[in-house]
Amino acid sequence: MPLVTSTEMFKKAYEGGYAIGAFNVNNMEIVQGITEACKEEKAPVILQVSKGARAYANHTYLVKLVEAAVIECPEIPIVLHLDHGPDFETCKSCIDGGFTSVMIDASSKPFEENIEITKKVVEYAHDHGVVVEAELGTLAGVEDDVKVSAADSSYTRPEEVEEFVSKTGCDSLAIAIGTSHGAYKFTPDQCTRNEKGILVPPPLRFDVLEEVSKRLPGFPIVLHGSSSVPQEYVKMVNEHGGKMPDAVGIPEEQLRKAATLSVCKINIDSDLRLTMTGTIRQFFDEHPDKFDPREYLKPARANIKETVRHKLVDVLGCAGKA
Ligand code: G3H
Ligand code: 13P
Ligand code: ZN
Repeated sequence: MPLVTSTEMFKKAYEGGYAIGAFNVNNMEIVQGITEACKEEKAPVILQVSKGARAYANHTYLVKLVEAAVIECPEIPIVLHLDHGPDFETCKSCIDGGFTSVMIDASSKPFEENIEITKKVVEYAHDHGVVVEAELGTLAGVEDDVKVSAADSSYTRPEEVEEFVSKTGCDSLAIAIGTSHGAYKFTPDQCTRNEKGILVPPPLRFDVLEEVSKRLPGFPIVLHGSSSVPQEYVKMVNEHGGKMPDAVGIPEEQLRKAATLSVCKINIDSDLRLTMTGTIRQFFDEHPDKFDPREYLKPARANIKETVRHKLVDVLGCAGKA
């Protein structure tokens, strides 16, 4: 089937109590690892491209890689989505250039300005059969060149969501309930330590999610910054020349719970980066004489596939839903 929008996917996910995985793609091996797992697990998927990915790999290369995945995986629905579109022009360029979904992220702007920018993108997108994700609230962490400290982050205010959605006409809404971008989501002093000495982050604000859902019944909610930062890969990085002390993510049980509620899209990027980097570091450590990129990218791609498979089956609950 050709690329699809997320409309049908989100409807089924909402009703079925699961979420769709939105994985960031930057090169061929990442696209292949993700889509091979989705194909084998019969899972619908959102492949998303950030401004940084377009600057790195070029819009056309990324679109063509995703189109290749569509040809290779005809049995699963695939959405091509712009992640964190910073302005109308970037969204327009993706809408004109083959994407089926865009995010306009004006969450750092004042409420009225966020509405105005989002509305403009929605009007253009809907005229072209493309859906729009918007954001209210500010996540901590790093996105492209924007770095938001925990002190400057803020939870979504539930009392604003109805006005925002009705005035903008957006199709899904990303909210801030305590997730954060990157591999260092919380500082050690924001966490407690369990009996094994592992950092345990503060719980997500399910009360905020529930209040938002009550005000927007049936409306798809999105969670950004939802990598879990698997400790096996942090260890692999650290044992093979890397230095990532105290990297910590969102516990998977909490994401599983969010997926059973109104959260229909869960964004995962850092876990794939960690998987790839850990695997390649280990490979170089064990094979210092090797220099053929195919030899180290092959196990990296295979491990990305397994990380994605685990998310589909054990966290998102979308395996078998294609
Ligand atoms: O939210 C940000 C995503 O992880 C994409 O990261 O802007 O470095 O491509 P990036
Ligand atoms: P992570 O950094 O937690 O993987 O979040 C990715 C994301 O939200 C992309 O938009
Ligand atoms: Zn994000």
